[in-house]
Amino acid sequence: MTHESWPAEATFAPAERDAVYKTIFARRDVRRFVSSPLPGDAVERILLAAHHAPSVGFMQPWNFIVIREPRTKKLIKEAFLLARRQEAEQFSGERKKLYLSLKLEGIEEAPLNICVTCDSTRHGPAVLGRSLIPQTDIYSTCCAIQNLWLAARAEGLGIGWVSILSEERLKEILRIPGHIAVVGYLCMGYPERFEPKPELETVGWLDRLPLRDVILNETWNGKVGGY
Ligand SMILES: Cc1cc2nc3c(=O)[nH]c(=O)nc-3n(C[C@H](O)[C@H](O)[C@H](O)COP(=O)(O)O)c2cc1C
Repeated sequence: MTHESWPAEATFAPAERDAVYKTIFARRDVRRFVSSPLPGDAVERILLAAHHAPSVGFMQPWNFIVIREPRTKKLIKEAFLLARRQEAEQFSGERKKLYLSLKLEGIEEAPLNICVTCDSTRHGPAVLGRSLIPQTDIYSTCCAIQNLWLAARAEGLGIGWVSILSEERLKEILRIPGHIAVVGYLCMGYPERFEPKPELETVGWLDRLPLRDVILNETWNGKVGGY
């Protein structure tokens, strides 16, 4: 059997394929939100998409803490402000000024925040495929976040990932047990707009690398530029 003999339901029609690429290229990290409430059915579909991510040994190590309470968001915003002040010290001069001018979160404006965690003990201690690379549980959780991000984009919702946070403080605020890792803190809502390119590119922080510069042929020493 070749792929040409696949049944129709196993293939994507050109418009369906284009919709997948459209979602990937139109996804943005969003930090500016409008206050419109989120439709519950869309949120459920997005979480279901996250829960259908691949995971090592089908471990499904994730949990999604869904946060709506303004008091909780306020505490997390305070933790962000402290972490941002610390991070800013890594830069100097114009770079530091630019860093401090950037909006790097939408914690309080976003109607929903989601803290995505990883339980490395789930289905343990022996998990198929994880014994040599134990961090594959975290990789799996990142796959769930990417599914969530793309599904949100297809629903017209924006997500902003906030990593300028102390994991210890987050765990304290959200009462997360010690053995659970925080992988991502996400803000979700209808965006003011979806920008055509990353904001960090627009403001001149960094450019997207050319694809040919990140592809190597056969080995790490393989000449770049072809595939
Ligand atoms: C693991 C991770 C952590 C991130 N943390 C932050 C953050 O703390 N604040 C922020 O504004 N953006 C954060 N981002 C978003 C990136 O800046 C953004 O993905 C990148 O600039 C490319 O832009 P795009 O997502 O719009 O394509 C994070 C993204 C990832 C994947």
